[in-house]
Amino acid sequence: MTNVHPTEIIRLHGTTPDTGRDGLWDALRAHHGPVAPVELEPGVRAWLLLGYHENLAVLQNQHLFSRDTRRWREAGAGRVDPAAVRPTLSWRPNALYADGAEHVRLRSPIVDALARVDMNATARTVRRIADGLVDSFAARGSADLVSEYADPLPVLVVNSLYGLPDDYGYMLGDLTAVVLGEDAGRGEDAVARMHQYFSELVVRKRERPGADLVSWMLEHPAGLSDHEVAHQAALINNASHQATTHLIGNTMRTLLTDAGIRTAHTDALLPVHELLDHVMWTDAPCQILPARIALQDTRIGATGIRAGDALLIGFAAAHRDPAVRCERDGGTGVSSGRRAHLMFGAGPHACPARELSRMIAAIAVTALQERLAGLRLAVAPEELRWVPSPFVRGLRELPVDFTPCGPPTPPRGKPARPVRPAGPAGSGADPEAEGADAPEDDLLGRLLDWWRGLRP
Ligand code: HEM
Repeated sequence: MTNVHPTEIIRLHGTTPDTGRDGLWDALRAHHGPVAPVELEPGVRAWLLLGYHENLAVLQNQHLFSRDTRRWREAGAGRVDPAAVRPTLSWRPNALYADGAEHVRLRSPIVDALARVDMNATARTVRRIADGLVDSFAARGSADLVSEYADPLPVLVVNSLYGLPDDYGYMLGDLTAVVLGEDAGRGEDAVARMHQYFSELVVRKRERPGADLVSWMLEHPAGLSDHEVAHQAALINNASHQATTHLIGNTMRTLLTDAGIRTAHTDALLPVHELLDHVMWTDAPCQILPARIALQDTRIGATGIRAGDALLIGFAAAHRDPAVRCERDGGTGVSSGRRAHLMFGAGPHACPARELSRMIAAIAVTALQERLAGLRLAVAPEELRWVPSPFVRGLRELPVDFTPCGPPTPPRGKPARPVRPAGPAGSGADPEAEGADAPEDDLLGRLLDWWRGLRP
């Protein structure tokens, strides 16, 4: 619980979420109704949406609420640098920050490329990657399920959908971690390297197209430029990474700390997809989603919103809204439909990879349960530490013990790599699609050489 009183303006940045802000959302709702004023930085105001229906309405109405953060009054007036309140409101030339026809133009190649992904082949790839990660720590009998498993897994999967061998995925994972991390100096260099990664990836795919997301976006009738495809490929990585990591982490934490849920799951009363929905209702990996900009003066509840104001989507608060939450079902949201949670967004920007994300998380959670006997937390539940972000709800580490098994492994730290059993070629989901013998003497290959040189 936080000590902030609801009548104060709640400052989001710099406040580390603890094991629960649930009490804060309830107190804010009781005091302000469905929308509350918050501070992103000292003096930088936004509105936090607390009501389920209000969140949904804002997500669905792009004519009143824009995703283009350059329309934010504070940014337009030069009073705040949107990049400084990252990741909240910085604009990038990708589908996530576009409205209307421009949004459709940038989003349709993503949606159509994802629709071409062979889900069966991808399921096998996810399991291969999950098993490879487990192999790297199985013999030790202990692991950090965040840094050694939930964190690398999504980026390795997305990397495989780009049609690249696993090593590129580990490099991308390292770069992504620095970009999303707190060291601004290192972050800048990593942003430049990430940009290089995606630009060179597009050059490679232009020269040697394959059955992969980037090649499919390049050949899409929307006719995106190479530069635009590089930005949409980067969006796919950025949009998928933390949410998937923390969905896996939060689900494992729930299983390890909640005996009732664990029993229901092992007794097959709570299948893995329902378990994921339960976690998305009660322990949403994204607590707050930035941001929508009001395009005209309007009202939400009793609150006047001015054109140019920023609104934050309050997933965690919405999921506790009495309008959809029923005490009878323990706040699982079952009464409003298991999948009625807002975790994948809604309206024109709704996540285009909903089923893929669910599949990745379900396989990741199942693989751990199948592989690791006697799995238990290595620390007391109250010692678990949370990522210091008001937007993300996820663990910094999830230390576990289990019965040692499998092959000998390197010491705790980076997982062994690469682990590449063969998969079906040409699926768009197989990291061997390019093959180990694919030429790596282009600029993307040299970037990989640079990264390998940094490795101990
Ligand atoms: C548990 C995992 C995931 C969750 C909870 C999640 C959630 C979301 C949400 C809430 C949005 C809407 C953002 C907004 O309205 O501002 C979104 C957008 C997006 N997601 Fe996901 N996502 C997940 C995984 C993925 C994965 C695995 C991919 C791709 C492989 C992906 C690709 C995207 C893209 C490209 C967008 C932007 C769509 C647009 O702006 O039109 N997401 N996601």
